[in-house]
Amino acid sequence: MDQLIVHGGATLRGAINISGSKNASLPILAGTLLTAEPCIIRRVPDVSDTNYMVQILSAMGADVERSSGTVRITCDGISDTAPYELVRRMRASICVMGPLLARLGRAVVSLPGGCVIGDRPVDLHLRGLEALGAKVEFEGGNIILTAEHGLRGAEIDLRGTHGPTVLGTDNVMMAATLAEGTTVIESAAAEPEVVDLADFLNAMGAKISGAGTSRITIEGVKELHGVEHTVIPDRIEAGTFMAAAALAGDGVTLRRVNREHLKAITAAIVESGHAVDFNESGDSCTIHRGGNLKGVDLVTAPYPGYPTDMQAQMTALLATTPGISVIKDTIFPQRFMHCAELKRMGADIKVDNGTAVVRGVEQLSAAPVMASDLRASAALVLAALTAKGSTAISRLYHIDRGYEHIDEKLLMLGANVERVKGG
Ligand code: EPZ
Repeated sequence: MDQLIVHGGATLRGAINISGSKNASLPILAGTLLTAEPCIIRRVPDVSDTNYMVQILSAMGADVERSSGTVRITCDGISDTAPYELVRRMRASICVMGPLLARLGRAVVSLPGGCVIGDRPVDLHLRGLEALGAKVEFEGGNIILTAEHGLRGAEIDLRGTHGPTVLGTDNVMMAATLAEGTTVIESAAAEPEVVDLADFLNAMGAKISGAGTSRITIEGVKELHGVEHTVIPDRIEAGTFMAAAALAGDGVTLRRVNREHLKAITAAIVESGHAVDFNESGDSCTIHRGGNLKGVDLVTAPYPGYPTDMQAQMTALLATTPGISVIKDTIFPQRFMHCAELKRMGADIKVDNGTAVVRGVEQLSAAPVMASDLRASAALVLAALTAKGSTAISRLYHIDRGYEHIDEKLLMLGANVERVKGG
């Protein structure tokens, strides 16, 4: 297992390109199961989560070629069963369920277990697919979905106790593309990744309207065809580098971003005293560290609210921002594992009941720390950039799940980081 050693104190400068979105790529890759024709997906980030998805599709019989961000997939002659050994490694594998059911009338997918960011049920996915006419059974740790006579359009409300569900919306939307009649999803997730999936499906011949709002309408069609699609920029990777630039930068430019998708993150960084300037077309921005900083209060919320996937990284930034910040995660109230590690580096944080109260300290100090999940590990890297001394971050495989070449991008900006074997 690799470790990342971050020698604190370097100033970040220069420009990098933001990769394609991991969380848009995963359902889009799964969506290729809806057609027997070849699909070409561009800007798929080279991270282990997209590799798992590609492996799952291959194991199910898809023909997959991958080279420098472009994945060509033909899902002809596929099986209805997603292999447990691969599925268990990544919760997002659950999004093969909807397309398999729609295409083959049957899907066998193992039930995802709990995960470190909290309980992650799939009841809403199943409720939606049942409403479309699927029979749901559980056997040997698997979910078995069948729709012998095909799926039928229905009105479905996908609201859960923590708001809408992103992958649940994706699953039901994909299943409904080939259902008979019209489906209306109420309380749908409006995240840009859902819109990217809808754009991909519409290009394949689906009839989806309203993606990006809380009401999505899908008119079922008989079949879908192969397409080429380019994935949207990764707003969470962009936000993470915005936070890095705010912490340790002196003019960092991020290219291939989408200003619209970054509104809530930009607002939080600006409110804490930093400057974020976009170019006219909104696809590039430059971040300057501010001179008059202050703590902020943040509450995570479904899009267009502040994303839970940027909660840990902002906590790291606020750990050394003067004043008191209060950060509440309403979507995953247990997603505060990074705080214990940040405290080991000298941060003053109290976590209680889904809320972190952060009292900004002047500087953190290096300590051996352990990554617990993807965004928590990004938070530790950020904290280490300005910490006194060299921080060794172990269990780096967490960060490799979702950040494409993060060490190379940091090196390009002038950070002093090295990946070492072991740890
Ligand atoms: C997606 O997960 C993202 N993953 C997550 O990003 C992200 O944190 C999350 O959305 C919230 O924005 C991908 O896109 C691959 P949800 P998803 O269903 O869809 C509850 C990252 O760091 N819920 O929108 O699985 C759930 O417990 C990852 O890149 C139910 O109650 O999340 C949570 O409280 C981690 N029943 C809330 O809904 C269900 O059936 C939102 O979860 C499903 C979810």
